[in-house]
Amino acid sequence: MSDVSRRRFLKLGACVVGGACATDALPSLAQAAEGDDITTLRTTLPYPRVQLASIGQLTIGREQLTTYPDQASPVVLVKLGRPAINGVGPERDIVAFSRRCSHMGGTLNFRQGTGTLHCPLHYAMFDAQKGGLLVIGQATDNLPQLELEVDAAGNVFAVGISGLLYGRQANILPNSGTV
Ligand code: FES
Repeated sequence: MSDVSRRRFLKLGACVVGGACATDALPSLAQAAEGDDITTLRTTLPYPRVQLASIGQLTIGREQLTTYPDQASPVVLVKLGRPAINGVGPERDIVAFSRRCSHMGGTLNFRQGTGTLHCPLHYAMFDAQKGGLLVIGQATDNLPQLELEVDAAGNVFAVGISGLLYGRQANILPNSGTV
């Protein structure tokens, strides 16, 4: 927190405790409500752009295992064979997800028949066609989904992640190596 933010926070705290606000504190309250200094929960470091596959290499239902955005984060890339939420490619059916279960970090396995990801620890199930939607289990969050792009040559790139990876306060860790 910057010095300015700290002063603003203390001023607002004094207003609440004292039950009365100085008039010059009110603009600060409005600015705080707009979230101008709230960066704690945001990933501020840039995501790497990493090629994960080429469309020609992908077979429907056969997952490719790799890591993104660093080697400590396992992910799965799959061509589902039917359009999916945030899917890329000509059929909009190529998607990728973190393999860390959003419950307690179990390593998920993809099942071709149902297009779902399954956790061996407490049996959570996530739907790959529906953006990693939690279908059943003790997890409370959907699965983080990779943001993908396809270039003119048919190469599939990971360029970001929607959702917070399990066990992290930010998806991009300082000084972490890329894939
Ligand atoms: S760690 Fe996956 S369901 Fe508990």
